[in-house]
Amino acid sequence: AKDPVHVLVTGAAGQIGYALVPMIARGVMLGADQPVILHMLDIPLAAEALNGVKMELISNNQNILLRPGVVATTDVVEACLGVNIAVMVGGFPRKEGMERKDVMSKNVSIYKSQASALESHAAANCKVLVVANPANTNALILKEFAPSIPEKNISCLTRLDHNRALGQVSERLSVQVSDVKNVIIWGNHSSTQYPDVTHATVKTSVGKKAVKELVADDAWLNGEFISTVQQRGAAIIKARKFSSALSAASSACDHIRDWVVGTPEGTWVSMGVYSDGSYDVPAGLIYSFPVTCKNGEWSIVQGLSIDEFSRSKLDKTAEELSEEKALAYSCLV
Ligand code: NAI
Repeated sequence: AKDPVHVLVTGAAGQIGYALVPMIARGVMLGADQPVILHMLDIPLAAEALNGVKMELISNNQNILLRPGVVATTDVVEACLGVNIAVMVGGFPRKEGMERKDVMSKNVSIYKSQASALESHAAANCKVLVVANPANTNALILKEFAPSIPEKNISCLTRLDHNRALGQVSERLSVQVSDVKNVIIWGNHSSTQYPDVTHATVKTSVGKKAVKELVADDAWLNGEFISTVQQRGAAIIKARKFSSALSAASSACDHIRDWVVGTPEGTWVSMGVYSDGSYDVPAGLIYSFPVTCKNGEWSIVQGLSIDEFSRSKLDKTAEELSEEKALAYSCLV
């Protein structure tokens, strides 16, 4: 039998947590043959709700959790102990009337202290996925304050945006979403992100075709398509009165699974990762790139052509991330 993998979910009593932990317990993230020990962390205010989630998990007999397979705690050290994968969903949400800087400041202090706990107590080579917003910048703070965790092991979630882009193309062309490949989300998980279909393809009965050619409507591709993907989060809040939870949870599973298991030959996915200056994106930002994964490591897809339209969009979202980075650093002093 395989050794168990310890998976941390912070903010486990929240909305995404509630959707995510049963997925992990059923093997959606790591496969049905991979035993998991789940570490769930939340804050003392949510301790009772967290315990309720634990009770539900134990009543859910469909799971691959080992016994005793669920740790539910409000102690960050206990939560981080020996974890192989950390999914950071907990954070401080923006409330009405709050300044951006105040929200940033709260999250900077959360991610700074959780970085230290992971650095001291997680298993060697722990992979980290930050979901909580501002996701890219929280991941950057985590990276800065956990210097012994390799930067290759720290990422943020833009897979939800990637999946939204695939979904829009699939709806527009009335094709299976699994036949659409190689869209890209560039940049920030925010409304400045750039959903790019320049290199995207659809599998058809007569071979692979470019999405651009099949859609044959640049006005839609350069306009409504982009804004729909950028604004999808807000549209879901408007419709549901709560932000995306099931699709966020499912995308987090996709992100980790592809990272661990690898991406299929010829396809890539989008991940927020530490920029090395590829595509002239400033180094030192956590920026969403097209990546392939193999043997548990991602690499940025190189050599894609970037036209003028794309260039300005890549730069705009990079600028926003540089500003966020400066704001985050100003909260540290
Ligand atoms: P939620 O408010 O329902 O749950 C958040 C949970 O985190 C709460 O239970 C809260 O008590 C907990 N928490 C707060 N501070 C914590 C700390 N220091 N340690 C541990 N837990 C802590 O929020 P929801 O809907 O589950 O969303 C979670 C985060 O994910 C939000 O920041 C949201 O903006 C973000 N998000 C990101 C997406 C992405 O694609 N990257 C998509 C959707 C949401």
